[in-house]
Order: sequence, then structure tokens, then C-alpha cells
Amino acid sequence: MAADRTNRATALLIELPEDSRPMHERLTGAIRTAIARGRLTPGHLLPSSRTLAAELGCSRWVVNEAYVQLAAEGHLETRQGSGTRVTACATARTEPSRAESGDPEPPASHVDLRPGAPDVSGFPAAAWLRSLHHVLTDPAWSPPVFPPPAGAPRLRQTVAAYLRRARGIAVDSDDVIITCGTSHGMAAVARTLTPAGPGVAVEDPGWFRLREVAAAAGLRIEPVTVDAEGIDVEAVRRAEVAAVICAPAHQFPTGALLSPRRRRALLTWALETSAIVVEDDYDAEFRYDGRPVGALAGLSRDHVVHLGSASKTLHTGLRLGWLVPPPARRRALLAAVETAGAGPSILDQLTFAHFVETGAYDRHLRHTRKAYRLRRDALVTALQRHKVTGRLGAVQGIAAGLHLTLPLPPRADEHAVVSRLAGLGVTAIPLSRYTIRPQPPALVLGYGRLPPSRAEWVAMRIAEALRPSARPHQLSGG
Ligand SMILES: Cc1ncc(COP(=O)(O)O)c(C=O)c1O
Repeated sequence: MAADRTNRATALLIELPEDSRPMHERLTGAIRTAIARGRLTPGHLLPSSRTLAAELGCSRWVVNEAYVQLAAEGHLETRQGSGTRVTACATARTEPSRAESGDPEPPASHVDLRPGAPDVSGFPAAAWLRSLHHVLTDPAWSPPVFPPPAGAPRLRQTVAAYLRRARGIAVDSDDVIITCGTSHGMAAVARTLTPAGPGVAVEDPGWFRLREVAAAAGLRIEPVTVDAEGIDVEAVRRAEVAAVICAPAHQFPTGALLSPRRRRALLTWALETSAIVVEDDYDAEFRYDGRPVGALAGLSRDHVVHLGSASKTLHTGLRLGWLVPPPARRRALLAAVETAGAGPSILDQLTFAHFVETGAYDRHLRHTRKAYRLRRDALVTALQRHKVTGRLGAVQGIAAGLHLTLPLPPRADEHAVVSRLAGLGVTAIPLSRYTIRPQPPALVLGYGRLPPSRAEWVAMRIAEALRPSARPHQLSGG
């Protein structure tokens, strides 16, 4: 049994075990555990011995003894005049945390190639703070006390203008609903479909989150093949579904761009069957090669629900996105967004509106597009140049986005390769993480946070991780 006492002065939870040891030993152990579990982090200022003793109902000697012992162990340091703090080198066994992708956080020293992870260290903090300051101080921008369910009118106007000019969608602000991102938008769409109905087609491979959201709403999921032209529309037709979820601009994770032929076929199918196409406008902002491609909703809005997000362009944790419904479904979708939970912070909404209106968003996109392109070029070149990875076959999906797909030898065990890579300091994700049905082995490599100078090192580590499984492939190849 441990007695929980929250120190009121510092809101520090001390779990003091109720056992026969002297109190100073129990306190030492409790603080050591708090550091080990990451509840007390490097630099954290501990309460003075007087304050903590008063809170715990013990003498100051008990607290001083504990602090001295922990300082001797290297967990705490005491400086004249600045109190007792957790040292920078105090090692925390952090609580297990799950990344947005659903995969465990790799150790900090790893090269992290999880796809879908933008370089959040490049968040445009100064410009964002300027916009936030503006929103908080200019009466013309003052946030409404009760934000409208569809989102701040100013942001809806700004997003509509952005979608008209950058994505070619004929929208005005009444057509835009602000969401907490693509997954939130998808949850709303799923609520408007009938669980016992015809089901939803999803890309296989595809981002698992959107199909999970649909499945959680009780919808039947129908996997559909993806090839170099994007989703197989004939297979969608055969699946006899009420909706299809796809990423036409940059299919995840194959990187296919939905061809003009398939775009037309998909819209024809939706029109003929009164189905809806849920367009995940993923990675549309990061197109490096070829002409920019407009959104599917730019061709027809009647059967397309367009979902956009600032998760990749600004920060995965911002939880800010938008949904453009077909006009006939607007009312139902707005109700569904409202009941799917609270929307994003009104301050973030207005800050983002100001950020876009002042041109800071476009500047940030130009800057990051250039940086990501360099990272992509470095990784592609390094993989092609290395004698092992260069023989694996063409990397896929490189024209846009923040990741690529590297085929593995046909008999390679993806999971074994990924776990060997983890041992070599590289976190990568196997293609099977995104597939419903078995597919040839491949690695999905995100380069959003890979410094170009590390690309060759990554190619070497992949080659090393492949060695056992690559051998048969190399022998048969000559
Ligand atoms: C394929 C795909 N689409 C969209 C998103 C953005 O989702 P959200 O806006 O919910 O963060 C992600 C995020 O990882 C993704 O992988």
C-alpha cells in the first residue's frame, strides 16, 4: 500500500510506501521512482525541505536526508540560491507512449523513419506567435465566446479562399466545416452512413486510422487494390459499397497519384450509385515532380467529401482540419461533426486564419517543400547508389509527400528486417502495417525528419539489416 500525498505547493505526487522502513528511506524511494517513471523530469525544481516537510507532516531532517541521498546518487543537484532540482542526466524510464502512427516511440538516438511524421522542429514559431498575438490583441479578431459549430467564420472564409486557389475547389465559406483533422472528419462521415448498409471500400494498403474509424462506426470494410494509377475503380464498383475512402493526391503508402482516367471513373461510379467518395487530400501540399494536381472535389462536389488537415504542413498535434461536404449532405455532416466531439480551439482557428491571410502559411509551405525535397533526393540517391539497396527495385511514391516505399526481396521477412534495423538504430515501418491482405514485402520510410547527411548511413544500415534475407535474392540475381 502506498499513501498518495499531493504536495499542494508544487502539485507533486509523492507515493509514500506504507512499510516498516524509516520515513527518509521511504521518501528517497518515492522520489527515485517518480524520476524513473518520468513524472519528475530533468530540471524540475523540488519543493524546499521546509515546504515538503510541512506537506508530509514530517521533520525537515527527513526531507534533507532524502535529498542528500538522491544527490549522492546523481538524481538531484542543489545549488545555493536556486534550490534542489532533478539533474539533467537523471534517467527516466518514460511511461510507454504511443506515437500518432500507433507505433512505439523510438529511442531519441534513433534515426526515426516513421512515415507521416513532419519535421515539427521547423514549426514556424515566430510567425505563429505573431498571429496569436494579433488575435489576442486586435478587437477586430476577438474570438467569439461560443464558437459556431462549423468553425470560426473568419477561418472558414480563409480556408475557402485557400481551397479555391490551391486545390481548385469551387467553394465559399458556407461550404467549409472546420474539424480537428482528417480522422475527426472521417468520424463525422462514418456517422452519416448506415451501419447495416452496403459498407465502405478502403485502399489496401492504406492508412489504417481511417478504416478503423469507419469500422468503429459499425461499417463493413471492403479492401480494394491500389496500383500505379491509384485505387482500382472496377474493384470499388464490384464491392457494392455506399462510400469509398481514398487519397487521390498521394496514396498512402504507395504514393500513387490517382490518374485522370480513374478520377473520371470514380466520379461516374459515385454519380450512378449515389455513393460518396471521401477524399483524404493527403500530402497534396508536398508535390515535387510534375504539375500540381487539383483535388477530386474540384471536378465535382456533388459526391465528394473533401478532407484536409494541417497535421503534416504545420504540426501533427495542432488538430486542425477542414471538411467540404457535398451540398446535399452539408446539414447531416455538420450535425455529425458536432456530435463527434468538440472542435479545435477557437484561438488556434483564428491564429491559423491570420497565419494564412498574412502569407505566412504559403511561405512556410514553400520553405518546407524545398527542405523535404532535398531530404527525399538524398534518401533516394543513397538507396539507389548502395550496391544492396540499389538492387531491390525502384523505390515508389517519390513524386510527393514525406515518405517512400522500398521493395524488399520477395522472400524477405519484413518484421525481421525491421527489428534488425531497430537494433542498428533505425526505426522503419513494414508495409504490412498498412495492408489488410498479404502483399509483397516492403519498407515504408519517412524522410520528413531525415537530415540529408544521414541518408547514406541509413542506406548502409538497411543493407546490413537485409544481409541474411538478401542472400538468396543476391545469389539468384547472378
Ligand atoms: C494518410 C493520412 N491522411 C491524413 C492524415 C492526417 O490525419 P489527421 O488530420 O487526423 O492528423 C494522416 C496522418 O498521419 C495520414 O497518414
